[in-house]
Amino acid sequence: MPVTIASDVSLEVPNHQPKLDEGEVHAWICDLGAVDAGMPALLSAGEREALRRYVRERDQLAYLRRRLIRRLVISTYTEVSACELGFESTCAICGSTSHGKPRLSVVELTDLEFSCSHSSETAVVAVGRKQALGADIEKIDRTHPVDDLLAFTSDRDERDRFEAHTEKDKVASFYALWTLKEAYLKAIGVGLSQDLATLAVEFEKGRPAALADRTPKRPRGWRVVLAPLRDYCIAVSHQVDAVRWFSGARLLSSLTSSWGSR
Ligand SMILES: CC(C)(COP(=O)(O)OP(=O)(O)OC[C@H]1O[C@@H](n2cnc3c(N)ncnc32)[C@H](O)[C@@H]1OP(=O)(O)O)[C@@H](O)C(=O)NCCC(=O)NCCS
Repeated sequence: MPVTIASDVSLEVPNHQPKLDEGEVHAWICDLGAVDAGMPALLSAGEREALRRYVRERDQLAYLRRRLIRRLVISTYTEVSACELGFESTCAICGSTSHGKPRLSVVELTDLEFSCSHSSETAVVAVGRKQALGADIEKIDRTHPVDDLLAFTSDRDERDRFEAHTEKDKVASFYALWTLKEAYLKAIGVGLSQDLATLAVEFEKGRPAALADRTPKRPRGWRVVLAPLRDYCIAVSHQVDAVRWFSGARLLSSLTSSWGSR
């Protein structure tokens, strides 16, 4: 069936930090521009070093904002303040600790799982407990030839299913498949080192989409959920009962103003 991106997902705007149960993932959609860029002191020494390596001011600002958003959102689920959160990574492919899926390094917080993604002016930070999860966001660009794009995300069988679709439906399908599959690959930590075409997404009316990984020895039971929002396609892959979508606007403005006054 075609992937219908009919209407925007509705975002909850919580007044206070919502309680995160084990069976839930909370996905925060944040405007990168909503974070006060005058707070680099919240970053670790390593992040400040990485910040200095960006040549273009615009890239520096984008890096700063997405790292601040990650700290601010995650810190609201912990007793640890945003500047004290420690992060580390290990690459699932080569074992290097210089890249790979990030996780919290503070021992008391290692049951907190998160995944971040950003595209253009928007970021998503998904947070859960104990179960791995992945998030991906892409800004929809309607200028690329969609058949070329579908070749990037899908194998022959999957593409054949879209053959009869209108261009608009094909674009929607492409972004849905891309973000859903990338969210899963981020959840298992391998990223785009695994070909998106090795994955299949099954859309069934009235049921959550299921994802099948055709490579050997991959875990089963992954679910993927899509949140269309304005010009963006956002996906979360998870193994829990529910994904709740939140607007980060109020949270970030209250956190940035309280940090600004310290
Ligand atoms: C992870 C990846 C899919 C991100 O793609 P993207 O669309 O450019 O970026 P997104 O905004 O969606 O996500 C970036 C975030 O994903 C997270 N991330 C990085 N590597 C990750 C991984 N292997 N798994 C899960 N999440 C990862 C980080 O939080 C990163 O944020 P940062 O850029 O602020 O550090 C892509 O960079 C990739 O595939 N990397 C791994 C490639 C690889 O493993 N090669 C083998 C090396 S030996």
